[in-house]
Amino acid sequence: MNANSQNFSLTSKPRIFNNPERFVEGWYWVLPSQKLGIKEVKSVTVLGRELAIYRGKNKVAVIVDAYCPHMGAHLAEGKVQGNELRCFFHHWQFDDQGFCVNVPCLNEPISIKLKTWPTAEKYGMIWVWTGEVPKQPLPFVLELEQKECDTSLGDYFLLNCHPNVVMINPIDAQHFNTVHKVSSAIDFEKQEINQNAIVFKNTTPNSVNSFFFQLIRFLCKNITHSICYWYGSTNIVTIGTEFFHVHVMFALRLLPGGKSEGQVILMIKKRPGILGWLYNRVLLWLTKVVGTHFIWDDMKIFQTIQLDLKTPIKADKSIIQFVNHLERQKPLMLKTWQLARLQNIETKAVREKWEDPKSND
Ligand code: FES
Ligand SMILES: [Fe+2]
Repeated sequence: MNANSQNFSLTSKPRIFNNPERFVEGWYWVLPSQKLGIKEVKSVTVLGRELAIYRGKNKVAVIVDAYCPHMGAHLAEGKVQGNELRCFFHHWQFDDQGFCVNVPCLNEPISIKLKTWPTAEKYGMIWVWTGEVPKQPLPFVLELEQKECDTSLGDYFLLNCHPNVVMINPIDAQHFNTVHKVSSAIDFEKQEINQNAIVFKNTTPNSVNSFFFQLIRFLCKNITHSICYWYGSTNIVTIGTEFFHVHVMFALRLLPGGKSEGQVILMIKKRPGILGWLYNRVLLWLTKVVGTHFIWDDMKIFQTIQLDLKTPIKADKSIIQFVNHLERQKPLMLKTWQLARLQNIETKAVREKWEDPKSND
């Protein structure tokens, strides 16, 4: 290790970062809300796990394991009745908690439970928590916490690398110069919000000379720029002036083979009245157009990269901080969503100590 890299090494060999079998317990996007109507049931595969999702007459989305606990028929072949789901095969019926409430050939239901998963709906998207009880909120940026926002769904995309690899792009200070032709140096300052969330603030946003930043600066004076990460797979890039910001969420999920699928969600704080709504729609549209231009050059890197963090240097500081933060989260296995094969004691210790003084501050 040379002198330049001395203070910017990983605290330990990564066991989660860029691991094609692992992801972090958390909230992950499932399906755009508008794709699931009332009384509709669909099949979805999220992080390798096969699920069925339906919306009852109470409009609430419910996510369950795909296969019926009787004989394994796929429940997406079934029918939504009221707020319950009836299996197509022998018509056993399950309520929104997964309890069997009707077996047609018996006088009373049997004591069996279909696995259900915590489900939420926000930003025009349905989300699932990949554990028993949610321990954190849906991904959000601090300034929008508890606030209403206008949203617009951007592109769905497939990439040939792990979500963690895509995530490090907006904090890869060097590539701003080499790929995006930004002429000045960029420096980020990190702030860990909780065990699953970390924010990187650009401390030099007003010196950046890219097309994107120039456009923002044309509209306003002092710009701010930050990236908030949740569960190592979703980030929200915030950019704007001191007083108004746009937020672009890249919500990614791991696919088998170490690939990614993702969804872009644009958001902005709600403004009152029809003019406020109109203003936000224009701003969201503009952000979509400019954002697409900005990430276009990154896309070809994601299709071919074989990431290996062998020789980090000082300029890679934020990436190392991101990886160290990620490694202190709870790892699950793709497909089974079971705890990954770390020693339990180790995982518990990790949980209790998400803020590690040894991480490169
Ligand atoms: S397989 Fe579902 S009710 Fe028999
Ligand atoms: Fe980039």
